[in-house]
Amino acid sequence: MSTVPESAASYYADAIEEILIDEETLAQRVKELAEATAARHADDPEDLILICVLKGAVMFLTDFSRALPIPNQMEFMAVSSYGAGTSSSGVVRILKDLERDITGRDVVIVEDILDSGLTLSWLLRNLSSRNPRSLEVVTLLRKPEARQSVNVDCADVGFDIPDEFVVGYGLDFNEQFRSLPFVAKLKPEVFQ
Ligand code: PRP
Repeated sequence: MSTVPESAASYYADAIEEILIDEETLAQRVKELAEATAARHADDPEDLILICVLKGAVMFLTDFSRALPIPNQMEFMAVSSYGAGTSSSGVVRILKDLERDITGRDVVIVEDILDSGLTLSWLLRNLSSRNPRSLEVVTLLRKPEARQSVNVDCADVGFDIPDEFVVGYGLDFNEQFRSLPFVAKLKPEVFQ
């Protein structure tokens, strides 16, 4: 019988240049973000609706939801940004829409990364038009403002990171690396 490796990270070790945010630091910050969100919504009459944009935000959403000390529900959207490669174009198409009406509800978009800001600014416009009671963004990672073609107001940001191509904790390159429990910088030769 073959030996089960301790972690999938060992398969990806050669592609990783550096771990930027380790597992423990992520868990601690997710807890802080969840507590801050709960404090903003402690008096809301109904469960918070957390919206996850597939697929990058899945890990953050599930940890965030469990760390939230107030009742919350999960909704998922899938969008496609036209344009290939490592940056988005701002033209967004809905592949999977919400399954609930968010009219009058308190909604938190739980995002993995704010890069150009095009996905989030489009999403904020789209969801605002559905008349939620409140709508805010909590993003785990944010790249420097210089990267952002549009300004997106966030209720909270987990980490400001350098302008590097990062993977792990949900973030991918060619669908790989999402399952890494940490956020890491890839070696340039892997994605260039
Ligand atoms: C990533 C990420 C954000 C978006 C941020 O999604 O999950 O949704 O890009 O980029 P922006 O600020 O430049 O718009 P991606 O399209 O790579 O899909 P994925 O989540 O399925 O990996």
